[in-house]
Amino acid sequence: MEQKLEAIRAAATQAISSAPSIDELESIRVKVLGRKGELTAILRTLGELSPEERSRVGQKSNQIKAELEAVLESRKADLLDSRINETLKEEWLDVTLASAGASRAFEPGRLHPLSQIQYEIENIFTSMGFTVLDGPEVETDYYNFEALNIPAHHPARDMQDTFWTEDGNLLRTHTSAIQVRGMERLKPPFRVIGPGRVFRYEATDASHENTFYQVEGMMVDRDISVADLIYFMKVLLKEIFGREVAIRLRPGYFPFVEPGFELDIHCLICDGKGCSVCKQSGWVELLPCGLVHPNVLRYGKIDPDKWSGFAFGLGMNRLIMMRYGINDIRHFQSGDIRFLRQF
Ligand code: DAH
Repeated sequence: MEQKLEAIRAAATQAISSAPSIDELESIRVKVLGRKGELTAILRTLGELSPEERSRVGQKSNQIKAELEAVLESRKADLLDSRINETLKEEWLDVTLASAGASRAFEPGRLHPLSQIQYEIENIFTSMGFTVLDGPEVETDYYNFEALNIPAHHPARDMQDTFWTEDGNLLRTHTSAIQVRGMERLKPPFRVIGPGRVFRYEATDASHENTFYQVEGMMVDRDISVADLIYFMKVLLKEIFGREVAIRLRPGYFPFVEPGFELDIHCLICDGKGCSVCKQSGWVELLPCGLVHPNVLRYGKIDPDKWSGFAFGLGMNRLIMMRYGINDIRHFQSGDIRFLRQF
């Protein structure tokens, strides 16, 4: 038994000191010390030995185990060192180059695609007389829900899984909170948009994120109708996509609008023929919107008998994904420079 141990020790030490890579080291470790390893197998048979043999073999195995672990660690450190040295050789940088006038092409920074689209949307709407408003990311129940005609216990609250703070506030689940703040600040008639970051307590996948970006829009004036809504949405889409985009309206339920709609656009990825992005339907849901509910106007101290309005909530991530054919929403927050460089 002890000879066998010595043989394992010798073979393993030799293999470890000549292992060419960290992966190789790991497979040696598994082969000798792993759950089904050679040394482990011996330790498992200890119970069958006589007491004094058991103590001798046990001690020796443990000693060899400790020794091999130490050799493994030290070889691993050496391999890591040489890997770092190689990387340094390949990726060295002469910090004096630029100042010496022999600089390589200078690569300027870029705006994140979400910032780019936000500024574009702001430009489109400000040119049509809209004001850009901001609001806090940590909101109160009142601005995020109650004043939008979503009272406590209303089932619509389930549509928006919410991050609550310990003091009873929340991370806003939509930029619609900004329209409430807008109504408080402005006297009708007015036109506002409110871009911003929103949060949902949600499992993430290719089309769901816990953090994403929306633009809220609201116009309040006399006799606003669905025709006004459609006009502004068509202008927006034409500017963003650089061409006329076919749209359709379907009824959609949101407590803060009546009637409410889902505005779909003709799928730009497949030109309406049917693809995975539009789930073979040829249409993509892009812009929920509607005419502002009288209760919401009342919360905003606006008389619904005199004034009416439309509102919409645009998902900016979705819009960019449509424009560039991006298939996974998680790219936006990945921080992956290869993704960001494309914009
Ligand atoms: N706030 C809604 C959401 O995040 C989107 C929305 C729907 C906004 C309809 C609106 C609207 O202004 O009229 O799901």
